[in-house]
Amino acid sequence: MVEHCFWEAGVAGSNPVIPIGHLLSKLMKIFLDTADYNAIAERYQTGLVDGITTNPTLVRKSGVNYLDFIKTLANDFAFESISAEVDGETYDVMLENANQFLNIDPSITIKLPLTKEGLIACRDLAMSGIKTNVTLCFSAAQAVMAAKAGATYISPFVGRMNDNSFSGVELVRAISSLYCAHGVETKVLAASLRDVHHVSRCLMYGANVVTLPPAVFDKMYNHVLTDAGLAIFEKDFKEING
Ligand code: G3P
Repeated sequence: MVEHCFWEAGVAGSNPVIPIGHLLSKLMKIFLDTADYNAIAERYQTGLVDGITTNPTLVRKSGVNYLDFIKTLANDFAFESISAEVDGETYDVMLENANQFLNIDPSITIKLPLTKEGLIACRDLAMSGIKTNVTLCFSAAQAVMAAKAGATYISPFVGRMNDNSFSGVELVRAISSLYCAHGVETKVLAASLRDVHHVSRCLMYGANVVTLPPAVFDKMYNHVLTDAGLAIFEKDFKEING
């Protein structure tokens, strides 16, 4: 079963029907989008974080050395994927950068820009069994090309679509539907997510992975009615227990 089509298993799928909730717990992945070690370590303890994505902007902001940071992550945590982004100027530079990350750990996911040269680099890395994440995706057509290049993940930028008056969630839906229709194995990794609402919408529309800034991850737990309800229950507990 292609993972974008997970909803089909509980609706019209094979016998026995697998409860959708059970499937979701196995298929929904949450990555953290950050280059802040302490933020990762703190949230890793929840057991709810499956991977990490980074980019040059996040690394610049955190002030870390990119190679050292990736090495530390690979050593300290058991993530299913750590995305490290290459300098996308030319094919040669991309491969050189990729090899620097892969020398640290061959399981690092190499993050490449959605350009012609980035896709050629993706194709060559994929042929060698390297995991890839094609980033800066803003159209379904681009996602087609990434899938053809053998990308492990495609990263549509939801927030930046919304910034430009296009629906990022609709882009996720279009890519997921297209991949489902054609049995594509490339996973949809919804990126540039800045609020909880868009996170759940992307997952509803077939994203396999969402990558979240730590602050958005923290807000995923919260609801004002949970807090209000808990306050009432606490008060009642006090009365019950004297
Ligand atoms: O994963 C890509 C993401 O970091 C971009 O987010 O908020 O800069 O559009 P943003």
